[in-house]
Amino acid sequence: MDFAIIGFGGLGKVHYGNVPRIAERVGDIRLVALCDVEESAFHVRTSTNLGENNAELDLSAYRLYRDVEELFARERLDFVITALPTYLHEKIAVMAMERGIHVFSEKPMALTAAQGEHMLRVARKKHVKLMIGQCVRYFPEYAALKELIDSNKYGKVIQADFQRISPSATWSWQNWMMDEAKSGGATLDLHVHDVDFIHWAFGVPKGVTSVSTNYKSKHESVRTLYHYEDKVVTALGDWGMPGCFPFTQRFTVRFERATVERAEKGLMLYPEEGEASLLEVPAGNGHAEELVDFINCIREDRESAVNPPEDSLKSIKIAIAEKVSADTGKTVVL
Ligand SMILES: NC(=O)c1ccc[n+]([C@@H]2O[C@H](COP(=O)([O-])OP(=O)(O)OC[C@H]3O[C@@H](n4cnc5c(N)ncnc54)[C@H](O)[C@@H]3O)[C@@H](O)[C@H]2O)c1
Repeated sequence: MDFAIIGFGGLGKVHYGNVPRIAERVGDIRLVALCDVEESAFHVRTSTNLGENNAELDLSAYRLYRDVEELFARERLDFVITALPTYLHEKIAVMAMERGIHVFSEKPMALTAAQGEHMLRVARKKHVKLMIGQCVRYFPEYAALKELIDSNKYGKVIQADFQRISPSATWSWQNWMMDEAKSGGATLDLHVHDVDFIHWAFGVPKGVTSVSTNYKSKHESVRTLYHYEDKVVTALGDWGMPGCFPFTQRFTVRFERATVERAEKGLMLYPEEGEASLLEVPAGNGHAEELVDFINCIREDRESAVNPPEDSLKSIKIAIAEKVSADTGKTVVL
């Protein structure tokens, strides 16, 4: 299968760097083209909240495009990976799907539920696969936590807290991330990862009660209580931290018989009886795993069991409700 990467900034280069390891797993895929409006994107390395990108930039094996229309006109593509500013997700995913091209599009799905619903309608109409890059579902420590929740190994969850904390996202192209109209702000861009995990693990909550801070930018942080009848679930997404603060993702989940924490050194288990220990988690890269799943879904003509696009739509609906709750001071029923 031939494919292209559209948007060759921070995340486009992360996906590019993972192509060899993905090809090792899925066999015959061929990156034929890269597309970015910015000529310099093909020459400079970029950084993201994940750190400096060290992908090798010898791009002589690929055809380079500055215009997505031209890419679609000239190339015969089976699928595309798009890593574009969020306000372009719907537009370019729909352009590709209308041409019968399968689409892996970065998270969040879109800025509005209506845009996400449109993407889903086109995917169904054209019988193409659409997957959104909600990569946390594929990261080993989160996947291990999901297994612990589903297996009831330590009993039911009593309470859970998730945090994702970062400096302001000032590294993006034309600073689009810090413009809430273009990125959805910290709630849709950063915090959506935990929103996605929470409803994957616990189902869609009955409602959300949120507060936000608006000191450096609108909705720079959001703190939410997700309403479940039998457990207390909270999360914090904050990109108002100083530039020197390290990107941090953590959770603490208290089950009936143990507490599991994602800590600096790994996934810690604190049983109600016995000693603390480090849980063994298989090595793995969520960004590569999600693409392996996506490509296998195309090959086998099936939906992903882990990350269906309908779930990504739920994630943006919940995240948007959180902003409404923070702005109105009221609980939003879902
Ligand atoms: N899954 C994750 O962990 C994760 C992490 C960071 C970002 N992201 C997501 O990835 C997406 C991209 O974020 P980023 O950090 O790479 O941003 P970025 O600003 O670094 O890169 C965006 C790139 O898109 C290019 N671009 C803009 N308009 C274009 C167009 N019309 N056609 C082609 N290229 C165009 C820009 O020139 C830029 O190189 C966002 O949706 C973001 O939320 C995901």
